[in-house]
Amino acid sequence: MHPVDVKKFVKQSSSVQGWFSSEAAMLFAWVDQIQQSNQISGDCFEIGCHHGKSAMLLGGLVDPATEKLAVCDLFGMQTDNVSRSGNGDLDTFERNMKEAKDAGLTINVFQKNSADLTADEIGRNYRFFHIDGGHNPEEALVDLHLAAECLVDRGVIALDDPFRMEWPGVTEALLRFLDENNEFQAIMVGFNKLLLTRKAWSGLYLKEFEDLSCRETYKLGYPWRVKQLPFHQFDLRIIYVPDYLQKLTPGNIARRIYHKTRRFLATRRQDQAAAKPA
Ligand SMILES: C[S@@+](CC[C@H](N)C(=O)[O-])C[C@H]1O[C@@H](n2cnc3c(N)ncnc32)[C@H](O)[C@@H]1O
Repeated sequence: MHPVDVKKFVKQSSSVQGWFSSEAAMLFAWVDQIQQSNQISGDCFEIGCHHGKSAMLLGGLVDPATEKLAVCDLFGMQTDNVSRSGNGDLDTFERNMKEAKDAGLTINVFQKNSADLTADEIGRNYRFFHIDGGHNPEEALVDLHLAAECLVDRGVIALDDPFRMEWPGVTEALLRFLDENNEFQAIMVGFNKLLLTRKAWSGLYLKEFEDLSCRETYKLGYPWRVKQLPFHQFDLRIIYVPDYLQKLTPGNIARRIYHKTRRFLATRRQDQAAAKPA
């Protein structure tokens, strides 16, 4: 998805209650762009939709002619929400997805506990699988294994809340998953999302992530940097803001203005290019 379209989705979903930042939206759209340019096709899946904030963006990644969005949430069965993460509501979700549906998007809704989903039921054709459902270790672990089973060869799993003090269960599930599934590697973490791919295909994504100009195209340049640290036998790329850039000094204010202006001009150029007839 082009960054101009991400901006539109972010604006459109700004009043939708949820936990999905504009930076995470840019990161997902960037993954989608890498997949498009490498002819990686397939559907998108989300476990844990709440009111549809992130699902709206995922719906925009899907080519409605050949791909679909599938989602799973407890919705009206909140007594099964043992980790108390979010509080899905099907009516609100459907209202928020209506415009995309009317425009031709196919959405398969599984209203159930994700632990009861099977690969046979949902299929094995997912290029992007977002996990943001139950946050207990057992819940997140079962979701990770399902995602791994249903992912196309060069697909990506995105895990929400991978390293949050409030949700240590997700961190435990991640570590147990990597112990139990030797095929996958954590490649990048940022904006509260961790991306995993099969080891054989990590390089395909990492070469793009390491390119500052690609990052800037998706508005993830300044003030963010990328460093790498060993994590579960591989180097994990970590998006972070250096300490000195977090302080409100005259130098940093000037830097912010400079980068904001640059970003504004780049966005205007992208808007103009997108508006130009082919
Ligand atoms: C944090 S919210 C999802 C937020 C959403 N992705 C967003 O960006 O706004 C978590 C959702 O997972 C659902 N959920 C919790 N446990 C679940 C389970 N075991 N199976 C399926 N859905 C679950 C909740 O109903 C809730 O809607």
